[in-house]
Amino acid sequence: MHPAQSSGVIGRGLPRIDGPAKVTGQALYGADQPAPDPAYACLVTATVACGRIHAIDEAAARVVPGLLDIMTHFTVGKAVRPGKLFNDGGYMATTVAPLGSDRVHFSGQVVAVVLAGTFEAARAAAAALCVDYDAEASSASFDSLGSTDVEPKSSGKPELAAGDFDTAFAGAPVMVDAHYATPPNHQNPLELFQVTCDWSGDELTVWESTQNVRGAQHGIAAQLGISPRKVRVISPYIGGAFGSRGELGQHTALVALAAKRLGRPVKLVASRAQCFDLRTFRAETRHHVRLAADWEGRLLALSHESWELTSRTEQFALAGSDQTARLYACPNIRTKVHAVAADRQTPGFMRAPPETPYLFALECAMDELAAALGIDPLDLRRRNDTMRNPVDNLPYTSRSLLQCIDAGAAAFGWDARTPQPGSMRDGDELVGYGYASAFYPAQIAPADARVTLTADGHAIVEVGTHEIGTGIQTVVAQVASDRLGVPMEAIEVRTGDSALPAAPLSAGSNSTASVCTVVAMACEKLHRRVARRAVLDRSSVLHRADPDGVRLRDGKAAVGTKAEPLAVAIRRVAPDGVLVVKATNNPHGAPPLVGPSKVRQGNVVHKGGSALKDRMQFAFGAQFVEVRVDRATGQIRVPRMVGAFAAGRIMNRRTAHAQLTGGQLWGLSSALHEVTEIDRRSARYMNASLGEYHIPVNADIGQVDAIMVDERDDQVNPLGIKGVGELGTTGANAAVANAIAHATGVRVRELPIRIEDVLASEFL
Ligand code: MOS
Repeated sequence: MHPAQSSGVIGRGLPRIDGPAKVTGQALYGADQPAPDPAYACLVTATVACGRIHAIDEAAARVVPGLLDIMTHFTVGKAVRPGKLFNDGGYMATTVAPLGSDRVHFSGQVVAVVLAGTFEAARAAAAALCVDYDAEASSASFDSLGSTDVEPKSSGKPELAAGDFDTAFAGAPVMVDAHYATPPNHQNPLELFQVTCDWSGDELTVWESTQNVRGAQHGIAAQLGISPRKVRVISPYIGGAFGSRGELGQHTALVALAAKRLGRPVKLVASRAQCFDLRTFRAETRHHVRLAADWEGRLLALSHESWELTSRTEQFALAGSDQTARLYACPNIRTKVHAVAADRQTPGFMRAPPETPYLFALECAMDELAAALGIDPLDLRRRNDTMRNPVDNLPYTSRSLLQCIDAGAAAFGWDARTPQPGSMRDGDELVGYGYASAFYPAQIAPADARVTLTADGHAIVEVGTHEIGTGIQTVVAQVASDRLGVPMEAIEVRTGDSALPAAPLSAGSNSTASVCTVVAMACEKLHRRVARRAVLDRSSVLHRADPDGVRLRDGKAAVGTKAEPLAVAIRRVAPDGVLVVKATNNPHGAPPLVGPSKVRQGNVVHKGGSALKDRMQFAFGAQFVEVRVDRATGQIRVPRMVGAFAAGRIMNRRTAHAQLTGGQLWGLSSALHEVTEIDRRSARYMNASLGEYHIPVNADIGQVDAIMVDERDDQVNPLGIKGVGELGTTGANAAVANAIAHATGVRVRELPIRIEDVLASEFL
C-alpha cells in the first residue's frame, strides 16, 4: 500500500470538518438526543465506603409530584447482571452488580435510581430519599488500617528481570535511590456522564458518550441477558473522554431497565460529583527507583518497584514499568508491581495511564542521576539511547528520541541553562529549566470500514470509531480525499454507532492508525475495481493502460493526460452509480482470523508498544519546561513549555498540534494542580467538583509549543502512523518537577508540587 497519493491533503493542517456543527450548536451530544416524552432518572449514591444498606425510607420521595418509580436493590436485584471487568476481557468499569444487593463496596456506589416526569422532580425525590447504612470501618488508601496487598492484574507485565541488578547496583560508582508518589486523579471530561435509553419492542437504542460503542453494545446486552443484536449504541459527539468512557459504568444498564419498566424513554445526566464515582479514575501510586551508572553516565542498573491502589473487588494495576524499564539501554534491570486494595471504586485508565505516574518517577530519577554525575540531563539520555529494548533485546521499529532532544533543545534555548540549582535568576524570581523524555506505545487494532463513492462525486466513509474530540473524522476524510480524488467537502464521515462497521475502542492512541489504515484499504479496493474495469473497456480512453497507474483525481479517472469522468468509471462497475466497498484490516501481531471478530464484539485487540513478540513500537518526545519561583512567596509559575515529538506520519498538523499541546498542559496540571483529595477516615472524595479539583487555566501558562519532528516508519503500519493522543503528556510532569529542582535546589518527589514544598529552598 502506498503511504499516500500525491494530492498533498495528507498531513496538511486542515480545520476540523465537525467544527462548524460544534460552534453553531448543531452537533448533538448524548443528552441532546431527542427522545419522545422521556422520563428522567436521578441517581442516589452511597455516602459510606463500606457496609450494608440497612433500610431505605421512601416516604418523603414518594410524595414528590411527578415521581414515577424508585429502583433499589429490592426491585432490581438479579435483573441486571454484574458483567466482567474491562481488564479481564469484559466491558465493565467494576464487577459490582448495579443495585444487585445491599452491600456497599465503595463511596459513590449507586444505591437507588429515582425516576420522574421532569429532571427537577427526579432530583428533588432523590434528595428526599433516606438511605440508612450499617457502616463498617473503611480503608482509604495506602497505609490505612485494613488495606491489603493483593496480586496485581494487568495487561502489562508486573515483573521484569534482566542481568543481575543487586550485584551491579552494589558495585556501581554513582547511584540514585529515591521514592516518588503520585496522587489520585479524575479524568473529568467536560461533558457529564449521560445516557438515554429507548425501547422499541425488544430492541434497545442507547445514546451514550462512549469510547467503545461495540463494547457498550455487547456489555449492556450481557448485563440485561439479551442478544447484542437487539442493542444499538449511538455516540455521535463526545465531550471528552480521556479513558473515563472506555468501560461501561454503573448507570447504563439501570437506565435501560428503567426504560423497559416504564415503557418510555429514560434520560440520565449524572452530576459532576457523581461522575467521580460512576466509572474509573487514576489511582494513587508509589515508586521506589534505584539507578546506578558509571562515571561516563552509562546506566549499569535500574530497579523500579511500584505500588498501585486498587479496589476490594478488583486487582487492577497498570504496571507501567513494563514500558518505562525499556526506555534506556541498561544491562541489569528489575521491576516489581504491587497492588494494594482499599475500600475504593475500581481504578482504570486516564490519559497516558501508565506513563503519567511511572515516567514521572523514572524521569525524575534520571534527572537526579544527572545531577549526581555532574552531567547535563540531555547528555545522560544521549549516552543511554538504544535501538533495542534492554529487557528482551527486541528492536525499535524507529526511535527518534535524540532528534527530538536536539530539536527541542534548540527551540527552547537549553544552552542558556547553567547547571547549578538556584543559579538562574530574573529579578525576584528563581528560574529553572527542566527536561524529561516522552514516550508512548504505537498501537493499532483490527477494524472494518465501508466506503461509498457515487457517480455525482460524493463519498461516504462509514467506520464505527468515536469522535472523542481529537478530530478523527477529519483525518479519515483526508485519507479518503487523497485516495479517491474527491474534495474534503464532498466527503461525509459517519462514526459513533454500533451499527457501523466495527472500529476498536478509541483509547491507547490507536484510532488514527487503526481507522486510517482500514479506510485506505477500502479506498484502494475501490480504486482497483474501477481501474481494472476501465482498462478492459475498449470504449474507454484508459483502455489497455496499466491499472496500477490509474489515478482518481479531481473527479476523473486518469492515466497521464488521458482521463475520463469518474461517473463513467463508477457506472461501469456499479450501474446505479453507487459503488460500495468494504475492507477489514487485521494488523501485525493481532490474532489471525479472530482479530476482527473480537473487535466486532467490542473486545480490546490493541497491538504494539512492548507487547509484540518481534519488535518495539513507540513514539518519542522531549519535554522542556521553564519554571519561575517567586523568592518572596514561593509561588511556582510556568511561563514556557516546549515539546518536540516524533510520531511517524502526522496526518493533520493542526489536530496533532492540538493533541500534543493539550497533553503538555495536562502534564503541567499533573505536576502542579491535580489531586483528588481523600478523607482518610471515610474513604470518600473531598473535592468532587470542578471548583475544588484544580486544573490549569490560561493564566497558569505562558506559551506552549509542540514541534513535530519528521519521522518515517514503514513498519508500524502501511501509512506509518504512530498516534499522538497521549504522547504529549508523557514526561511533562517530570519536566516540571526537574525544572523546580533546578530553580530551587529542592527535589519534590510527590505530586502535585505546592508552594510549601519549595519553601525549604536556600535560595528563597
Ligand atoms: Mo485513553 S486513557 O487511552 O482513553
